[in-house]
Amino acid sequence: TQLDLIRNFSIVAHIDHGKSTLADRLIQMTGTVAARDMKAQMLDSMDIERERGITIKANTVRIEYPAKDGKTYILNLIDTPGHVDFAYEVSRSMRAVEGSLLVVDASQGVEAQTLANVYQALDAGHEIVPVLNKIDLPAAEPDRIRQQIEDVIGLDASDAVLISAKSGLGIPEVLEAIVTRLPPPKGDRDAPLKAMLVDSWYDAYLGVVVMVRIMDGVMKKGDRVRMMQTNAVYGIDKLAVLKPEMRDIAELGPGEIGIFTASIKQVRDTRVGDTITHERKGCTEALPGFKPAQPVVFCGLFPVDANEFENLRDAIEKLSLNDASFSTEMETSAALGFGFRCGFLGLLHLEVIRDRLEREYDIDLITTAPSVVFKLHMKDGTVQDLHNPADMPDLTYVDHIEEPRIKATIMVPDDYLGDVLKLCQDRRGIQMDLSYAGSRAMVVYDLPLAEVVFDFYDRLKSVTQGYASFDYTISEYREDFLVKMSILVNEEPVDALSMMVHRDRAEARGRAMVEKLKDLIPRHMFKIPIQAAIGARVIARETLSAMRKDVTAKCYGGDASRKKKLLEKQKAGKKRMRQFGKVEIPQEAFISALKMD
Ligand code: GTP
Repeated sequence: TQLDLIRNFSIVAHIDHGKSTLADRLIQMTGTVAARDMKAQMLDSMDIERERGITIKANTVRIEYPAKDGKTYILNLIDTPGHVDFAYEVSRSMRAVEGSLLVVDASQGVEAQTLANVYQALDAGHEIVPVLNKIDLPAAEPDRIRQQIEDVIGLDASDAVLISAKSGLGIPEVLEAIVTRLPPPKGDRDAPLKAMLVDSWYDAYLGVVVMVRIMDGVMKKGDRVRMMQTNAVYGIDKLAVLKPEMRDIAELGPGEIGIFTASIKQVRDTRVGDTITHERKGCTEALPGFKPAQPVVFCGLFPVDANEFENLRDAIEKLSLNDASFSTEMETSAALGFGFRCGFLGLLHLEVIRDRLEREYDIDLITTAPSVVFKLHMKDGTVQDLHNPADMPDLTYVDHIEEPRIKATIMVPDDYLGDVLKLCQDRRGIQMDLSYAGSRAMVVYDLPLAEVVFDFYDRLKSVTQGYASFDYTISEYREDFLVKMSILVNEEPVDALSMMVHRDRAEARGRAMVEKLKDLIPRHMFKIPIQAAIGARVIARETLSAMRKDVTAKCYGGDASRKKKLLEKQKAGKKRMRQFGKVEIPQEAFISALKMD
């Protein structure tokens, strides 16, 4: 295809502003999918995505559009995930296209993710067409929002396209704007092959499928290609475009976006952002900016039923074939048995994976407290990453500890600002900036990631009745006074409940935790101390009193020897319990105890 007949674009928007609905309309209106095959949210393929209404994996569709100028254009839409956890995927897919439609809900206006995503599009050098959606709503205020886009983002919105993705109003204008206002791709057909690996996933029938954007040169079926990061060489078995179902194609030229399969065993063998070239006469220089996605939040996953361990292992292996950003390692816990310590890109990623394990593989799981990666600066000068509070070494070896900080942007109606500031302050936040766009405040906070992974989103939503929007980027590692807090039940440390906390917050956290556990653990035949401790020092304590079953009540007087026997039996029972430190902690205690506030 001629370069000037191609337009590659993505749609950037805050969650719920109508990105998927608009994509569906574009597909429908160009007859890319026959009406009878059209299901709502065509691009969100996984069930969970559809249910949760979030787009996780980048998807793509090739649309043929006969424009008003009489020419037929090929429009490649790359669907980008909207959520911050997938920011790396967003930035990769942005580099594969030249322009973006910026969708803003005309009744809501600019939100935190609108900003985060549009900045990424601008970083990638995109031409941007603002689109105001939901103008069918009585609350829509297109003039005000247009002004807001100019004020907050600094983008000329005077010729924003007004649409209702729901009713289809304005869709033809969007298609024309894509062709007339977004630039065609550049590329040299005669240069050595240079393709960007945009995405990859595991398909039950085809194995690993790789999505590429061709920058220079031509990719053909049968070609032998090399991944420049891993140096692995593969022969291309199948070359296709997504419409959105796969259609085989003989070749992909510069500016084009398509997929190939090449008997690649695991998604892990493909690195998003890698450069693909021909085995022979390949290009010498890779595309800039390759950076693997780093997990930032870790937690332990254990089967509720220990017999399910093998099933869990299988399920985790299958899932990680399909998601290279999710890391796993075997873990054993004295309290929970065998399980896995898993790393995620963020909390949402964690939730999605946990949901899939429970739902698609039908395994009941215990999730331990999410933890961030702390950097331990040891006295011997080395630096260690701490993924699991249970692995914290003796403090005498540690010089100081650093934790990841984030730059959080929160947008919220004026009325709730006070509550938001209080929440951030409570979470050890440092206010960086506060500004207004109309009656909405935008605050920027420097916060410890560790304080955000617990229940920050939930708290933020609840104190603002759902009106706040939130986005963050990891900023830096910084030293703070952090300690490991252990929880001891019946004098035994329960590793799955230990956590890293700020020294000043340790007492309050510890107290809350032991109080909760006291309610969660059922009474036993003996007294159970429940303690929170830093090193050997107990900072909070509760005692669960013994359940006193009067075992002699049934012996109607008399028989003293029988009475004695029974008492001895009870004592032995008690002893055995103590001996094994065997307190039964119900499964839900692990989850509930960690939820603060
Ligand atoms: P994510 O996929 O979660 O990022 O959301 P999204 O931005 O793709 O939003 P989606 O298309 O799922 O739309 C969110 C909600 O807004 C849905 O309930 C849509 O039906 C509704 N919606 C989308 N466009 C319009 C519109 O033009 N008018 C009205 N009234 N509702 C719309």
